[in-house]
Amino acid sequence: MNVQPRAGEPIIVNVGLGDRAYDIVIGRGLLASLGERVAMLRPGCKVAIVTDETVARHHLAAAQAALTDAGIAVSSIKVPAGESSKSFRQFERVCDALLAARIERGDLIVALGGGVVGDLGGFAASVIRRGVDYVQVPTTLLSQVDSSVGGKTAINARQGKNLVGAFYQPIMVLADTALLDTLPEREFRAGYAETVKYGLLGDAAFFEWLDVNWRDVFAGGESSGSSAREHAIAVSCRAKAAIVARDERETGDRMLLNLGHTFGHAFEAAAGFSDKLLHGEAVGLGMSLALEFSARRGLIAQEEADRAIAHLAATGLPTHVKAVMGGNWPGIDVMMDLISQDKKVKRGQLTFILVRGIGAAFVTRDVATDEVRAFIAEKLGAR
Ligand code: GLY
Repeated sequence: MNVQPRAGEPIIVNVGLGDRAYDIVIGRGLLASLGERVAMLRPGCKVAIVTDETVARHHLAAAQAALTDAGIAVSSIKVPAGESSKSFRQFERVCDALLAARIERGDLIVALGGGVVGDLGGFAASVIRRGVDYVQVPTTLLSQVDSSVGGKTAINARQGKNLVGAFYQPIMVLADTALLDTLPEREFRAGYAETVKYGLLGDAAFFEWLDVNWRDVFAGGESSGSSAREHAIAVSCRAKAAIVARDERETGDRMLLNLGHTFGHAFEAAAGFSDKLLHGEAVGLGMSLALEFSARRGLIAQEEADRAIAHLAATGLPTHVKAVMGGNWPGIDVMMDLISQDKKVKRGQLTFILVRGIGAAFVTRDVATDEVRAFIAEKLGAR
């Protein structure tokens, strides 16, 4: 376990991808340093900020000021807040605005927002003039520990989520933990599910640390809680950076990051990708199901699985299918259809991330559809 940083000192996590390596800079109040950091990385560039209307209200002025104070010309484009902005329509609007602002190859795009803005802005950066550099400034816990790191960018298609996109790495991720102060607690908690994921998938000591310190991670603010929050984000980013460095394109280890996602995505889809079940909440639910399923297969001791599930439940994350949406889920056939439509299905075979213990996840295709069906049917209380 790494030593916690002193308050105020940014933590740097490098994503080691050779000539595309970049830093994730983590700390409180870092947005003010955006201009000098950009000027150092790309002297003389213009910047276009892609953001959403909610984030713009809270943070756009500060981001613009940080850039203009460093002598950088800035323009901005706002999309509506929410998943529906990962659409062809908004993508076209963003591209149009970037071209109208005369963003050229030597210039820079800044994606200021949560996962939606990061995915949309990053994807636009990957195609504008065949590729313009971009910086991620994630404003949610979920995007600080997961989606802003690793270069997955995408929009949604009629056929499903994230089906049109590119692997395209940013040149820096600036994670200002003070930006999380304006986040509703429910959204913070949803992001926390992706934080616990790193403990559950590969770092038992981190899980133990979270089990003791999660309240400080949630508390944030200027108190001692802020270093706990930064520590949790840094450990998560280090874990993700290490996995991305060895498997950028998700042919092996990167799939571990999908712990809880196969079950979770199906429930998220059944809830209509709405605020009935946020992505991180679906991941919390999905991880609980993956733990239970692993225990049922005799891979992990029931008590150990229960301990991990109890931690998720203590933070307020949903861990029982019946506790979400009043238990009003589609029937087992629809749920199985949603599970089998998952991107992780390969030649008809489901891919699952299961656990042999806390901190010991593995990828398997050795799961029969009937076994999953019986398990989910039981959870739904169906036949
Ligand atoms: N969010 C999972 C990944 O980046 O691979």
